[in-house]
Amino acid sequence: MTRKLIVGNWKMNGSLAANHDLLHAINAGLTSSSCQAAVCVPAPYFAQVQHLCASSSLLWGAQDVSASDSGAFTGEVSAAMLRDFGVRYALVGHSERRQYHGETDEVVALKAQRALSAGITPIVCVGETLAQREAGQTAEVVKRQLAAVIHTNGHCISEIVVAYEPVWAIGTGKTATPEQAQEVHAMLRHQLSAASAHADKIAILYGGSMNASNAASLLSQQDIDGGLVGGASLKAADFLSIVAAASQ
Ligand code: 13P
Repeated sequence: MTRKLIVGNWKMNGSLAANHDLLHAINAGLTSSSCQAAVCVPAPYFAQVQHLCASSSLLWGAQDVSASDSGAFTGEVSAAMLRDFGVRYALVGHSERRQYHGETDEVVALKAQRALSAGITPIVCVGETLAQREAGQTAEVVKRQLAAVIHTNGHCISEIVVAYEPVWAIGTGKTATPEQAQEVHAMLRHQLSAASAHADKIAILYGGSMNASNAASLLSQQDIDGGLVGGASLKAADFLSIVAAASQ
């Protein structure tokens, strides 16, 4: 990977007024073309974000997509609906979806498939909990999570983005060390290379308390191709600092 990718995940934050200010500030500060930046926003704001990003290099995406095509699935948003708004990315399998909405590896794999078939790049999130890390299960857990997606989407696996987000590092201020993250990223790259001749082109992002001060050291690791940023993506200055660190 040469060009890094920094994706902000706003989670369930924002308002018409706040999004307007944040996107104006980010768009005004995005100068570098050596890094790709994107934001994943709550679904009700798609039209607003589509409009505000229309002439910007900032790409944008959704935080989830339905595993079903259409029909009686109250509250769900389909891949075709995302495509209607020009959505470029969709997070799938974020640990908060797995934890609070019971998403299984199989559901996550189907969501990735729906996104891919609509021409949307799924950002497939994997990561272990603290208990799993302490029990020495990190490799087993992340490989199992990724294997399900490879199994269902093998033929177009080089079209996905992967995000390694250790659950214990999300929103906690505890970042994985660059070495800890690199170790898992290398493992994921190895797994992808068994499924695709283009595994070196698949972006593997790190997520979990990434901020302006730790981004550069994480992003200097060989297999860390970018970041998936939660809290720090809600402040333009912080997000832009991370984008700048990724543009070095
Ligand atoms: P924080 O950056 O707030 O730890 O969140 C990470 C995350 O979950 C991004 O998807």
